[in-house]
Amino acid sequence: MSVVTRSACRLKHVPLCRKRYFHNSAVRLYEPKIERFAQCPPRVFSGIQPTGVPHLGNYLCAIRKWVEMQEQYDSMLVSVVDLHSITVPQDATELRENILVMAACLMACGIDHEKTILFQQSSVSYHTELAWILGCLCTLPRLGRLPQWREKSKTVKDPGIGLFTYPILQTADILLYKANVVPVGEDQIIHLELATDLARAFNRTYGIMFPSPEALIGDVSKVRSLKDPTCKMSKSDVNSMSRIDLTDSADLVQSKIKKSTTDSVSRILTYDPENRPGISNLIDIHSLLTDTKPEDIVHQCKDLNKVQYKERVSEIINETIQPINEKMTRLLNDKHYLHTVLKKGAERASEIADRTMTEVKDLVGLR
Ligand code: TRP
Repeated sequence: MSVVTRSACRLKHVPLCRKRYFHNSAVRLYEPKIERFAQCPPRVFSGIQPTGVPHLGNYLCAIRKWVEMQEQYDSMLVSVVDLHSITVPQDATELRENILVMAACLMACGIDHEKTILFQQSSVSYHTELAWILGCLCTLPRLGRLPQWREKSKTVKDPGIGLFTYPILQTADILLYKANVVPVGEDQIIHLELATDLARAFNRTYGIMFPSPEALIGDVSKVRSLKDPTCKMSKSDVNSMSRIDLTDSADLVQSKIKKSTTDSVSRILTYDPENRPGISNLIDIHSLLTDTKPEDIVHQCKDLNKVQYKERVSEIINETIQPINEKMTRLLNDKHYLHTVLKKGAERASEIADRTMTEVKDLVGLR
């Protein structure tokens, strides 16, 4: 079995602090005896919502890492988490299409469905079943403190319970497969803390069962908006010129980069994220795509003016995304094949989930 070298995937390991929470005093009494977690072989789980075509930031900071990780770990699952996406209203026809778009995109980016178990979350109904059991171990204040609820519930009119309990479902996604390595964006660390707490609460209450999930954090903030380089590149930005979508044509990429916000501080290319965020963002994108240090890029491109450098960055982006784009189009032209891949993935995921749920039900007394 290959053991991961974390530096190899260039991800930061974040130790999760777990102090507070779980005020059930009956549970507390047992704490000293069962503080430890179950020992499980490394298994990776990550999820992505089917909310349209991913952008370059999603690719560089998440999907590409997963593609690297599938070579380094023996067991990996990637789920198109459709149940998470309905926490805010979705159009049924669009959602159905977006599930396939995301599956096609992940495969076009290099997720190998033979190696990695690629599946649609709702096809394995144990996710919601385990979420219920875990929800019974989680207090209201514990969820209410989570920043995503606090922020999102303000922007949605009459927010539903799903938006509130969503992190419990995320915990179930991970624990159902006893996954202990979870690559996520920085904004998700707090949800991983909840997953750790709930794994621990389950182990304390019913018996040792779940390993502690560890977050692997990618450099999400590295890829910034092309229009306002002080913010990260985002799907929800109303201005589509602010991001490069993986389905953008070569011409559109060129025009977005050409019109991207830079500065007139100097005619010479310099890397200075603080004072020259726009041009430095382009250098960061260039650097991530070519695995070259920003300083080396500046040196290589020192004779190019701004217009020429933007041309160069467009070419580099297109070299990566146009093959993805073409592969995605091919895959989406064969929906039957995509359905077959997802069905096979769900079967493989169900096999693992079934074993976990049998153990869970035995411990809880449901069987
Ligand atoms: N909540 C994650 C997001 O919005 C997606 C997600 C759902 C996830 N379940 C997961 C990520 C399990 C990692 C592990 O980005």
